[in-house]
Amino acid sequence: MHGLYLLAAILLEVAGTTCMRLAEGFTRPLPSVLIFVFYGLSFACITLALEKIQLSVAYAIWAGMGTALIALIGVAVFAESMSPLKWLSLAMIAAGVVGLNLDARPVEAMTAADPNEEARRWLERRVGRCHAAMRLGVEEEREARLFGQGRTVFHIENWGGFRGLVRLALRLSLMEGRGLRNARAVQLRCNDFVLPHLPPVFQGYTLLHLSDLHLDMGAGMPDALIEAVDGLQYDACVITGDFRAKTYGAYQAALDGMARVRPHLKGDIYAILGNHDSLRMAQGLEAMGVRLLLNETVALRRGGSVIHLAGIDDPHYYRADNLEKAADPIPAGGVSLLLSHSPEIYRQAASAGFDVMLAGHTHGGQICLPGGIPLIVNARAPRRYCVGAWRHQRMQGYTSVGSGASIADARFNCPPEVTLHRLLQE
Ligand SMILES: [Fe+2]
Repeated sequence: MHGLYLLAAILLEVAGTTCMRLAEGFTRPLPSVLIFVFYGLSFACITLALEKIQLSVAYAIWAGMGTALIALIGVAVFAESMSPLKWLSLAMIAAGVVGLNLDARPVEAMTAADPNEEARRWLERRVGRCHAAMRLGVEEEREARLFGQGRTVFHIENWGGFRGLVRLALRLSLMEGRGLRNARAVQLRCNDFVLPHLPPVFQGYTLLHLSDLHLDMGAGMPDALIEAVDGLQYDACVITGDFRAKTYGAYQAALDGMARVRPHLKGDIYAILGNHDSLRMAQGLEAMGVRLLLNETVALRRGGSVIHLAGIDDPHYYRADNLEKAADPIPAGGVSLLLSHSPEIYRQAASAGFDVMLAGHTHGGQICLPGGIPLIVNARAPRRYCVGAWRHQRMQGYTSVGSGASIADARFNCPPEVTLHRLLQE
């Protein structure tokens, strides 16, 4: 895809330069206007290509190929003269382009460290050989796949070009600044779950729910979250995934962002991974005291009583969720809460007997029509399960719109949130 962007950038540059010749000193209107149209589109295409192709390689190929093609058009169309020295120079440009392509590596190959053997062994010990192999296998096969894989057919968050187009549209419509400010104005929301069989000692037990942090999305994202959580009162913190902005590539910036947020969180912290997260992030997150629940369950204890908190790996794109493994240790009749990145597995979770399900992923649409009506929610679930509190059969649920933003660093008619969930017996 990014090679096609570069090819388009070259062809548009050639078209623009040809129009320069046809404009005859800006005396002919149409070619004069087309110069700016073709060059503008060419710059847009090369900007999109730079998401995956090294700057030095992309620019050299763009300039070199453009120069060579324009020289050939000069000879063929405008009957310009061609000397042996010109032919030799064109051949050298062609050789240079071939050489640059031979040495080209994708951007993420330069920035994302492959998991070394020790890290892989840690993961195998932590989640089991099969889970590690399956999750890493899908990640390494094609992290940024547009079609197929996962519970939805098309994965818009994996399309780097769409990110560029949305940002360009916001910039051109002069909405970028307002969207950015909206994305940093994190609100506090409160929700109650009434659970008649809640052990009395857990009356009022409160969970701080964070979701879709996307901490490396842009400057100030960690600070906005820190400002939102400082001073809140709660017993434990749960995070329903998506620490990273992109769905592929480097992840250290997201971990660095979490390391800044971590000291501002109190009590035990439990988290799951989302479709934007690599399993390779697990070791770094747990090293900073964030206990991941990767198809696992922990017991939350208070005054001799217990409730159960389960979490599953991403069910949306990686389909690495194993609800049976997470739910099996929970005794019948026990109060049980489930963390799932996406609400898409609400049916299975309700059938498995969970009392409460906390999710995120949808961002509530992130860019919504007035009244908070989402354009897209990117989830294979009815919209009533995609924002805020909901119920399915006997299970209560809550889907957070998240504190961060992805694809575009902007929100409209859908403010970011952190949520306090209070457990009540009645
Ligand atoms: Fe997200």
